[in-house]
Amino acid sequence: MNKTLFSLLGCLIFFCGAYFSEAQTREIITLKKGWKFKKGQHPSATKVDFDDAKWETVTVPHDWAIYGPFDKEVDKQTVAITQNGEDIATEKTGRTGALPYIGEAWYRNTFSLENFDDTKKVLLLFEGAMSEPEIFLNGEKVGEWKYGYSYFYFDVSKYINGKSQNTLAVKLTNEGKSSRWYPGAGLYRNVRVIIKNNESFEQWSTFISTPSISLDEAKVNIKTKAFGTDLKLVTEIYNKDGNEINSKETSTIINNEFEQNIKVNQPQLWSPETPYLYTAVLKLYKGDILKDEITQRFGIRTIDYSPNTGFSLNGETRKFKGVCLHHDLGPIGTAVNRSALQRQLKILKDMGCNAIRSAHNMPSFEQLELCDEMGFMFLAESFDEWKKPKVENGYNRFFDEYAEKDVVNLVRATRNHPSIVMWSSGNEVPDQWGSEGVKRAKWLQDIFHREDPTRPVTVGMDQVKAVMESGFGAIMDVPGLNYRVHLYDEAYERFPQGFLLGSETASTVSSRGIYKFPVEIASMKTYPDFQSSSYDLEYCSWSNLPDDDFVLQDDRPWVIGEFVWTGFDYLGEPTPYDEAWPSRSSYFGINDLAGLPKDRYYLYRSRWNTEDETLHILPHWNWQGREGETTPVFVYTSYDSAELFLNGKSLGIQTKNNKTNQNRYRLMWIDVKYEPGILKVVALDNNGNPAAEKEIKTSGKPYELVLDSDVKTLKANGEDIAFVTVSVVDKNGIPCPTATNQLQFKVEGNGLYRAACNGDATSLELFHLPTMKLFSGKLVVLVQSTNKVGNIKLTVTGDNLEKGELIITSKK
Ligand code: GAL
Repeated sequence: MNKTLFSLLGCLIFFCGAYFSEAQTREIITLKKGWKFKKGQHPSATKVDFDDAKWETVTVPHDWAIYGPFDKEVDKQTVAITQNGEDIATEKTGRTGALPYIGEAWYRNTFSLENFDDTKKVLLLFEGAMSEPEIFLNGEKVGEWKYGYSYFYFDVSKYINGKSQNTLAVKLTNEGKSSRWYPGAGLYRNVRVIIKNNESFEQWSTFISTPSISLDEAKVNIKTKAFGTDLKLVTEIYNKDGNEINSKETSTIINNEFEQNIKVNQPQLWSPETPYLYTAVLKLYKGDILKDEITQRFGIRTIDYSPNTGFSLNGETRKFKGVCLHHDLGPIGTAVNRSALQRQLKILKDMGCNAIRSAHNMPSFEQLELCDEMGFMFLAESFDEWKKPKVENGYNRFFDEYAEKDVVNLVRATRNHPSIVMWSSGNEVPDQWGSEGVKRAKWLQDIFHREDPTRPVTVGMDQVKAVMESGFGAIMDVPGLNYRVHLYDEAYERFPQGFLLGSETASTVSSRGIYKFPVEIASMKTYPDFQSSSYDLEYCSWSNLPDDDFVLQDDRPWVIGEFVWTGFDYLGEPTPYDEAWPSRSSYFGINDLAGLPKDRYYLYRSRWNTEDETLHILPHWNWQGREGETTPVFVYTSYDSAELFLNGKSLGIQTKNNKTNQNRYRLMWIDVKYEPGILKVVALDNNGNPAAEKEIKTSGKPYELVLDSDVKTLKANGEDIAFVTVSVVDKNGIPCPTATNQLQFKVEGNGLYRAACNGDATSLELFHLPTMKLFSGKLVVLVQSTNKVGNIKLTVTGDNLEKGELIITSKK
């Protein structure tokens, strides 16, 4: 009989707040609401009868530090950042975001288990806890972990009180000098209670791979482990429409493991362009009694890394057009949020990006699910440090005891995501130096291989000369180079793999809408306003400009792609202003901290998005006081050639050429003398005929606020967020690109004001307060749904400005 998965799920799964039940054989309770939270030391908070009534009530995922205040003294690190080539220690403020993440804090919550008895097992699962979590249940310590980015779980069956109230207490401790960026703080990812039968699948033991694929059929290999005896596994495979397409029954268990091969006819292959997902429903029977059931999505696709063809997906060679992302989500900090992640991916998709690297730690499950669904390849990273420290209190403290456990959990929990095409065991680890490091690299890579023989492992290597000498680079499945464009050819010659990955590229810095004169290529350039120029010519002493990477990507077939540092700005690491207060977030992003595109977005889009045309002019054209002065104009475009007009006068045609790396990828009119008015670019096709045009205009004074939401409706689930871009225009509707007006936000109806962000890396305004200044004429307001359906109204006001209003509808 051809059942449909959706009707199956319809009757077996029901939602009740955060409550989730699968076939009545297991229940998953996501502990979102009702948490009590308090910073400081509270040793007696482990006790069941501890009075937490006066503690703050919070919702998890929660980041306790994002509410600030920003403080120059927080985690001030007087260090020489050796990986940046520094040898003299200087005072770094804002390195970890200047937000109060350090210290101890406690969370408490209770849950009841209506179906609990001694035929049941209970697991407590943390998808990330920052950091050094210690877990107590009903007054007893059940376990601890160290790395704040790891997923981990404990079998807590023996600590359960019974069906009624169970009291959970979690202690978290963040040391100062433990990070190179803002790590966040708290239970920033989901916490779940899983109740299942004693006869049940072992957590994260299921591994679905697709070892052989042809046009006609695919072999789906399923391995899984279960507790109990005399068990039978029945697996059903469903296509994306929910129709069952095959199934298999097995009662053979070898070495405690079931294994099945199931055929899928005419398989639909997963790729970034066609992110087709199948679902496997695994049912565990003892006799005729269903004991456990899990639902696992997977994709059918092949990956291959070879000397001649480089990287190929489903037999087709392609390059990674990737970005590195830190885990923070700007104004909401590290508290994981699906709509914030989805918005990031939508922006990146439009840019033509096809891959993400989770720098430098375990990605959230939500991000991987979205990448499966939306079509992004994923480089899942684990560590920024091994045994040798980068920061005094970094992962080096835990490496010996935890590295294997952390890798095992990363791989087992995520290996069924088709988006993951590579693992990374480390980033720029100082262990690149010395023979011990080579051994560690091999040891870690072997653990990845043991847990997942289907994907290769890389390390982002910056000490390229050292790893050539030591053999470190030679043993990696995929040699990844961070920057060092001048060493690509030599590394390719000396490494045996026959291909190279730009595991980290560019680190070009810019501030959205800010342009500096004279326009020149410069390394580590700083300015009195602590901003960097959006002419995209400023980079770091260890890094380079985007165009330098493009040359390698285009001219060296053996370079298998790049991961740009970074897709979005992030909290902390405000290079080149590491020592300049109040800089507190990065300048590296292609998009700013609010998710607004900088000019660089269009440079990447012009080559990565091969479907849609790109035609973008910079700088803005509001330069009162620069009349008659040289004000270069750049155009980022998918066309090879264009003509520029200022107030109707032609400034000539520019064509991409090989004179410099910039000339190859950008159209540049260097000698433009500023006069206010209309700057127009007309793109020319290969025959020299006009193909598209774009113009920007000098604006008058700020007059009216304009609101534009990324979505029209929200889900009434208390989590969904609309990102509303607020900009200001003059009387004629022309955007005012330099406006800095102070604005106020009011949300009415069935929604809440969550945060705002203007992308200014030097702003000390707090994200969660309902007021903020525009930066370069824009900012973004985050409006969050409640559990109630209905309209939500956002009103934005500012002195002497016509207000902006917007209605968003919240639906079930
Ligand atoms: C790299 C490092 C990144 C970030 C970047 C800034 O060396 O891997 O984490 O620090 O530099 O350019």
